[in-house]
Amino acid sequence: MNRKFVMAGVVVLFLALPSLAAITAQHVDPIPTKESFVPEDMIKARERAAIVPELVTEVREESLYQRRKTLLEKGVGIQDVKHTFMLLDSPIIKAEHEDFYEPVRFMHGKHISVVDGDCSKCHHLRPTDPELSETVACSACHQKAFDPERPERIGLKAAYHIQCMTCHEEMKKGPVDCLGCHSRNAPDHEELVKLRPDPEPWDVTAECLRCHEKQGEDMLRSAHWLWRGPSPYTVERTKEVMSGKATNAVNNF
Ligand code: HEC
Ligand code: HEC
Ligand code: HEC
Ligand code: HEC
Ligand code: HEC
Repeated sequence: MNRKFVMAGVVVLFLALPSLAAITAQHVDPIPTKESFVPEDMIKARERAAIVPELVTEVREESLYQRRKTLLEKGVGIQDVKHTFMLLDSPIIKAEHEDFYEPVRFMHGKHISVVDGDCSKCHHLRPTDPELSETVACSACHQKAFDPERPERIGLKAAYHIQCMTCHEEMKKGPVDCLGCHSRNAPDHEELVKLRPDPEPWDVTAECLRCHEKQGEDMLRSAHWLWRGPSPYTVERTKEVMSGKATNAVNNF
């Protein structure tokens, strides 16, 4: 065998050793640390969110009534759903707008039960091309905010906002306020938060309050803080009559 390959093999093995050790350590460690915890679902959802599908130019002319009927006849249903959870964070939107917010969490599965499995409530049109899926992504058809060749189509951000919010308003369920769907791109707290090496829990709270004074005051007026009541089912506190954060809860720093 070629000497060079053998050498390369040895080097690769050598490089792989630390990561192998990390994998074994992961199995031993019962509490995941910041380094060992890998939120795989989130990583995959983020990867999917970054995909830009090829633009669908030809759309089948179909009324919503026909569309629902066709989907029923074809038996398109929950079994065709690949992902019950999604992050919506399209590069199409980023290219046209500022990126103010974190990806929007969308519970696809939960929403399907809300509409009794009627996919046409959201997947309202399909491509003419029979090869393409019945429930192709919104972002395959809705891309630019204005496309002179397809002026009837609204952009992706508007398509989401209109469809999501109209339904939430009509059903009087689901968020319509901005922060119900969005959380702001927060600055990097690893740099903002300054703590001594072995902090006590209250040190951490005090550090957060340095910048989040208002949130701290809100907390003191909230039910989480003010709640008091009998808690016969709280482990190790079964005999206590009154528990609550502001009284005797363990973690009321
Ligand atoms: C029902 C959920 C929902 C509500 C309520 C909502 N949005 Fe959005 N918004 C979305 C979705 C979904 C996207 C697309 C996310 C993506 O692909 O980046 C989006 C995208 C955006 C973007 C562009 C992406 C970014 O990160 O900057 C802005 C700006 C925005 N929304 C502002 C608002 C404002 C302002 C309000 C309140 C008036 C609001 N949204 C309410 C769902 C919502
Ligand atoms: C409440 C609205 C809503 C309903 C109801 C709904 N979907 Fe979706 N679906 C979406 C949104 C939003 C996307 C993301 C599209 C994008 O990426 O632009 C999506 C994406 C998809 C995708 C492609 C992307 C993926 O990662 O899975 C498939 C397949 C899909 N839906 C199938 C279905 C089927 C089958 C049904 C009916 C059983 C259904 N959907 C019902 C809103 C909905
Ligand atoms: C196969 C192409 C195609 C797909 C996929 C598609 N749309 Fe559309 N959409 C259109 C076209 C074309 C229009 C223009 C008006 C029309 O014919 O309804 C439109 C119009 C809209 C409108 C304007 C109001 C209305 O209902 O007529 C909204 C909102 C919308 N789409 C949201 C969505 C969302 C959200 C998704 C994904 C769940 C989606 N669309 C998937 C092609 C598509
Ligand atoms: C067909 C109607 C309909 C459409 C379209 C719809 N929603 Fe909803 N949504 C609901 C209902 C109903 C609820 C309340 C569900 C519950 O509490 O059981 C809800 C709840 C939510 C919630 C809060 C609960 C949770 O599961 O996190 C979010 C966030 C949300 N929707 C986001 C979206 C986004 C983003 C879109 C568009 C891509 C969207 N919705 C489109 C009907 C709809
Ligand atoms: C040096 C100042 C500073 C410190 C210390 C700090 N933060 Fe922040 N934090 C900010 C700023 C600035 C923002 C972004 C603006 C906003 O959302 O209020 C933010 C945003 C946040 C958000 C997101 C809010 C949203 O709207 O999505 C959370 C959650 C948060 N901080 C938690 C914490 C916690 C927990 C601590 C203590 C461990 C902490 N912060 C310490 C400055 C700070």
